Amino acid sequence: MKYIPEPFRIKSVEPLRMLTREERVQKIKEANYNVFALNSDDVYIDLLTDSGTNAMSNAQWAGVMNGDESYAGATSYRNVVATARDIFGMEYIQPVHQGRAAEKVLLPILLEGKKYAISNMHFDTTRGHVVLAGCIPVDCVVPEALDTQLRAPFKGNMDVERLEKLINEFGKENVGVIIMTVTNNSAGGQPVSIENIRKTRAIADKYGIPMMIDAARYAENAYFIKQREPEFKNATIKEIVAETFKYGDMFTMSAKKDAIVNMGGLIGMRSKKIYDLVKQRCISFEGFVTYGGLSGRDLEALAIGLKEGIDESYLQYRIGQMEYLAARLDEAGIAYQSPVGGHAVFVDAAKMFPNMPWYEYPGQALTVELYIEAGIRGCDIGSYMMDRHPVTREEQRAEFEFTRLAIPRRVYTQAHLDIIADALIAIKERANEVKGYKIIEEAPILRHFTAKLEAL
Ligand code: F0G
Repeated sequence: MKYIPEPFRIKSVEPLRMLTREERVQKIKEANYNVFALNSDDVYIDLLTDSGTNAMSNAQWAGVMNGDESYAGATSYRNVVATARDIFGMEYIQPVHQGRAAEKVLLPILLEGKKYAISNMHFDTTRGHVVLAGCIPVDCVVPEALDTQLRAPFKGNMDVERLEKLINEFGKENVGVIIMTVTNNSAGGQPVSIENIRKTRAIADKYGIPMMIDAARYAENAYFIKQREPEFKNATIKEIVAETFKYGDMFTMSAKKDAIVNMGGLIGMRSKKIYDLVKQRCISFEGFVTYGGLSGRDLEALAIGLKEGIDESYLQYRIGQMEYLAARLDEAGIAYQSPVGGHAVFVDAAKMFPNMPWYEYPGQALTVELYIEAGIRGCDIGSYMMDRHPVTREEQRAEFEFTRLAIPRRVYTQAHLDIIADALIAIKERANEVKGYKIIEEAPILRHFTAKLEAL
């Protein structure tokens, strides 16, 4: 596998330090085996998330200086709105401070008086906000997604047949929204095809249910469509993005991913009626409509990042990093959600530790081992991250036991990727010695951020 060279050079650097193995063993113990409790300067390669960890370009940093900090009517706000309208084709654009803020503002409007939200897969904060709005989030991904070794092109897709069955079972009047998450983060950063988006839209129309796009990784999704969906092989990324959003009534976006900024989010919608409600909630929770909880400088960097994020040579390098790391794991026989997704390698921890039961959290066990092995911080996307059932409060088994290694945009080099691969190979060699974990303290929702664990 050839490494696709960076389409940029580096102008500013941030020093890293590597602790000794003994120090790392001590640090992770002090953190109660929860990597969210580690200090970042005790981490060598931080793959906790690709969210807000991006390196901005020289143009974005120049934009920071140009940011208009006016409370109302700032030029930076108008730049974001004009750029987002141009790229996403929706009339009404509301900036907010991040993705979950968009969810907090919009979802209660869509879910008022409803019982369910159905998604190809809810991300954890989206799931949390559906529950907070008094509804039940139901995931409806295609069955191919569940087999990590099956190399299907669009494993993020909605299972449209099941979607229709669910709507009939729940009653269409009880389903507040259909959420299409692109790429499908929780299924492994897997793409969704335009064909699938069109079919989902047809069902939304048939039953009169609004369709929302959770658009955190819309550009990576568009790149995969260009590679894998023949209809779009000659289309530009911008054209594919426009086609994707054409089928949504509204979108929420964490701009901390594909818009390559450190903070920011957007809500987009076609309905003036919904926009009027969004504005009111935004003023209460986020700030006045023309800044939405962001500084003017954040807005300016966002307006520029939205354009940089859909540059094809950047996306080729970006997805190329994932493919390079995945190829090294293939060579070593390490299972991951394959083909590799757009923002992360999701290592199949259940396959790495075949004798560890799901309720001992294999994804979390591998996360801890990676930190001890090489100071790498990933995170569990498995039964540990899965909250208890909102009604029965029982432990729920996740569809997967992943350790996610999310790659920040434009941050790490090929040498870093090799260190990650080498660490996984070393752990695989001693896999039968690795022990599971139990939770000794947890919050009622989004528990994985603050839980305390004990090694078994
Ligand atoms: N939707 C998706 C698909 C996401 O991946 C995230 C965040 C959000 C919504 C919420 O956005 O963080 O800006 O509030 N995902 C990050 C991650 C945290 O690590 O995958 P946010």
